[in-house]
Amino acid sequence: MTTELLEATQTINVFIADPLSEDGIFPLRQETGLNLNLIVDTGLTPEELISKIADVHVLLVRSQTTVTREVIEAAKNLKLIGRAGVGVDNIDLTAATEHGIIVVNAPDGNTNSAAEHTIAMMTSLARHIPQAFNTLKNGKWDRKSYVGVELKNKTLGVVGFGRIGVEVAYRAKGSRMNVMAYDPFLSEERANELGVTKATVEEICQAADFITVHTPLLPETRNLLNKEKFDLMKDGVRVINCARGGIINEDDLYDAILSGKVAGAALDVFVEEPATDHKLLTLPQVIATPHLGASTVEAQESVAVDVSNDIIKFFKTGTVTNPVNMPSIPKEKLAEVEPFFALAEKLGKFLIQVTAGTVKELNISYAGEVANYDVRPLTANAIKGLLSTNHGTHVNDVNARYLAERVGIKINEHKTTTAKGFTNLVIVEVKTGEETHSVAGTLLNGLGARIVKVEGFVVDVKPEGNYLYIKNTDKPGAIGRVAMKLAESDINIATMQVGRDEVGGSAVMMLGVDNEVTAEEIAVVSTLENIDEVKSINL
Ligand code: NAD
Ligand code: MLT
Repeated sequence: MTTELLEATQTINVFIADPLSEDGIFPLRQETGLNLNLIVDTGLTPEELISKIADVHVLLVRSQTTVTREVIEAAKNLKLIGRAGVGVDNIDLTAATEHGIIVVNAPDGNTNSAAEHTIAMMTSLARHIPQAFNTLKNGKWDRKSYVGVELKNKTLGVVGFGRIGVEVAYRAKGSRMNVMAYDPFLSEERANELGVTKATVEEICQAADFITVHTPLLPETRNLLNKEKFDLMKDGVRVINCARGGIINEDDLYDAILSGKVAGAALDVFVEEPATDHKLLTLPQVIATPHLGASTVEAQESVAVDVSNDIIKFFKTGTVTNPVNMPSIPKEKLAEVEPFFALAEKLGKFLIQVTAGTVKELNISYAGEVANYDVRPLTANAIKGLLSTNHGTHVNDVNARYLAERVGIKINEHKTTTAKGFTNLVIVEVKTGEETHSVAGTLLNGLGARIVKVEGFVVDVKPEGNYLYIKNTDKPGAIGRVAMKLAESDINIATMQVGRDEVGGSAVMMLGVDNEVTAEEIAVVSTLENIDEVKSINL
């Protein structure tokens, strides 16, 4: 990853907008290799945050602060948003990506706490513990009203079988429950391995005594459990939501409890938080906690440590462990493709300078050994090169693909194992509708990046410095006339590469020149006999 970093000596302003574990941010406090300036300022209104964010390089939040597009647009120097926790639904990821701001989270640190909380809620729900405790606190010894149900031999349906869903299943099996699970990525083999029954949401609704949801909040998961699903459920079902408010439709849940279909609900999360005045809280069948799933000493320390370490890693190496809005590639895999970054960027940069029209399609082929690697960062670098003339330094690894797609460029990646005489070959082609241009490059052992083909013509060009790219007809005198004309303008040719399809056919020249050639000089060279096209290229 080559996202622009700050100068090593520059002060990095880290703004902590939500309360975080002091032990968790210890790595930031004790970091000496970076000049970190920690600003802890919590409980701000959106307007207050916006007024304080202009000089901030890193914004660190939990779930209380909503990082809106307005916040992101006001944060002119923001490089990274750190989310100490899993859910990133409080961050406008589209706006962050568009502005090239990397978002990192801490996906593992609170898994255990959230799973334990879910089990605590399910047990409390089954045995009416909060209600019974309340009655006792109010001086009443009521044993009749709180007859519960056992968990043993009951069926638990887990919707969303990721980190927390799986941990909940382990624990439920410890209580001798039968577990059914639904997740679009759950295979039969994995379900068997974990001792759960793979099922659809509908099958879970029909068979489960308890249903717990553990998906992220996405357009597809909003209202995942709604009236239609409640109608399928067994009478007396109990539901638990320790994931995100809105996965279970709150109005439909309210009605299902009133109708007796749902015997009880345990909720840690709500559509609107804080939710102190919610109609669901008026129902005796509902027990609730104020978003406490991750509120343990261990989880809070762990998530804060994870994001703190990612912040340090980002400013020291340009890579992060837990990116949300760009591909996560393990260090060893990244090391395989990193040497190709500059080459891919130069190929994109070359193409945009030879293309007159608006690029509509970008095709990138990876041939040879490079085809075995995770090439997504290479494609991002080729796009960076392609967009560099229009977006300058605003294009980075985070937003390259997004910006290209936003301007309507279709991106296609291809891989082939054979590289026709090369160990590795990266071939980039752009199409505008009227024009098609292509360039190919390789990494030569010990010699670095080389452009080896331009528009199908074989060349050997070091992609650095200024070039004149000339298309001509392969006739005697063409090269000499160009050289003479350039000499008249005092332009020194440092290197020269020519290629042709056949004797007397089409040809190209790539002339390395010491200075950038002006538009007037290009116009003069273009008028020479047998010269078809002249472009100044800076690589
Ligand atoms: P995860 O990414 O590991 O797992 C989520 C799973 O949901 C994935 O396996 C994914 O495939 C699945 N999924 C996505 N769309 C789905 C769909 N339409 N139907 C069914 N499954 C779908 O995340 P996680 O760490 O397990 O967290 C789960 C949820 O818990 C998140 O919403 C997170 O924000 C929330 N959470 C809440 C607390 C809390 O304090 N209450 C704490 C931690 C996490
Ligand atoms: C999360 O998504 O990690 C949880 O909601 C915990 C939190 O940050 O409060």
